[in-house]
Amino acid sequence: MTQFKAVNWNTPENDYTAMFWEQNIRQFWVDTEYIPSKDIDSWKGLSPEIQEAYKKALGGLTLLDTLQSHTGMPKILDHIDSLQNKAVLSFMCMMEAIHAKSYSTIFTTVTTTQEINELFDWVHSNKHLQFKAATIDQYYRSLDKKQVNTEDLYMALGASVLLESFLFYSGFFMPLWLCGQGEMVASADIIKKIVADESIHGVFVGLLAQDIYKTLPNPEKVKDRLINLLHELYENELKYTEEVYTDIGLTAEVKEYVRYNANKALMNLGFEEIFEVKEVNPIVLNGLNLETTQHDFFSKKSTNYEKSMEVTHLRDEDFVLDLEDDFLSI
Ligand SMILES: [Fe+2]
Ligand SMILES: [Fe+2]
Repeated sequence: MTQFKAVNWNTPENDYTAMFWEQNIRQFWVDTEYIPSKDIDSWKGLSPEIQEAYKKALGGLTLLDTLQSHTGMPKILDHIDSLQNKAVLSFMCMMEAIHAKSYSTIFTTVTTTQEINELFDWVHSNKHLQFKAATIDQYYRSLDKKQVNTEDLYMALGASVLLESFLFYSGFFMPLWLCGQGEMVASADIIKKIVADESIHGVFVGLLAQDIYKTLPNPEKVKDRLINLLHELYENELKYTEEVYTDIGLTAEVKEYVRYNANKALMNLGFEEIFEVKEVNPIVLNGLNLETTQHDFFSKKSTNYEKSMEVTHLRDEDFVLDLEDDFLSI
């Protein structure tokens, strides 16, 4: 008979999980506490071509976050042994759902229902976006059984890191680039929170992948499989970038940013960089490093959104004392 285990946080299961749990909680946020309506005037001032690229970039991001929330995280956490690591992945899964919803919070504020419906039709039929989702999904679906081998688990973790640390960035470029020029700044605060979350997700899932990698009987062969997958996705990413960004003349810069983040994904998996990167647009990099949100997940969270971590609960006596103070001050 199966013995069901309860998660015991009293005894650390390894030397990093508790730290990742704390950092995830510290970064918690909700889309509805931001105010993208401040961007309505900015939106109206953008050219139709830029509006189109912005909508497509965020539409593509919505698809990836939906996949990660509905399939990626649930399938992976089902096959991770550590109950504490499962808990961290569950929290991340919930944040993926908030990410996927938060793009709609921006769309709903600045554009019409008809435009939003047309955008989602585009997302559902765009071959490059659908290729991205289908390619990653097949590694998640290989975990759709009770027992899986370590190679399948490693490849699913690796695919997840490629999604988190690499595939999102052709989409993130657009809102960060606009924000760096003072446009769509309130919406960019939401995007920067998502970037900070994806950063910690990529590092954490990368560590889980590295732990599994050490147990593989044929690590070099599996590494080749993963690098081949990265190249396959990279070729698709170049075509996707051309489709979204050619009309506004940003294709070359976005491709450079894509290569920069592909290298980051490799580093999260413990591998060497493979792409030569000349210069990433400083507006986009600075957009991540400005005072609001930090790309480095060890840094403090956004300065314009703080969730209390140390809470002192109110007691009945607190109200009695307040009332007495009020009377004394009259
Ligand atoms: Fe996400
Ligand atoms: Fe994520």
